[in-house]
Amino acid sequence: MTAYSLHINGSERHFATPRETSLLHLLRNDCGLNGPKYGCGLGQCGSCTVLVDGVAARSCVVPAHGVAGRHITTLEGLGTREAPHFVQQAFLDAQAAQCGYCLNGMVMTTVALLARVPDPTPEQVRAELSHNLCRCGTHLEILDAVQRAARRSAEDRP
Ligand code: FES
Ligand code: FES
Repeated sequence: MTAYSLHINGSERHFATPRETSLLHLLRNDCGLNGPKYGCGLGQCGSCTVLVDGVAARSCVVPAHGVAGRHITTLEGLGTREAPHFVQQAFLDAQAAQCGYCLNGMVMTTVALLARVPDPTPEQVRAELSHNLCRCGTHLEILDAVQRAARRSAEDRP
């Protein structure tokens, strides 16, 4: 077992887990945070994306102890049902879901993108999301949602 602590959605948490425990497993099974989804388990689909110190990371291939002391943000840490994050609101407004399984990754990747590039071009959005897979084929609605969020992000800039 390895002992370490993480800052998860603003709270410090202490753990002791086997070294092979993935961050995704820890978040879902030990913390009850089911926003990040298990898709491929190989770092290829993006459904498990979380932010590590604000950078999008695929939690299925990140050892939990490997991000000791870092700040982890999950979908649950963005907003609430009553007060969604503006990226979540944009996805709602664009009705960018069928089954919704991919949306955690789409939303978290968009949040990370807009933090770096508040007013991305459509090409930058496509490039950023090109490795997030949606088996339902809602890509056009998802791109619409990201553009809506980008407009809001640009409007909010001083
Ligand atoms: S489940 Fe992590 S990238 Fe697919
Ligand atoms: S909405 Fe079903 S996988 Fe994207």
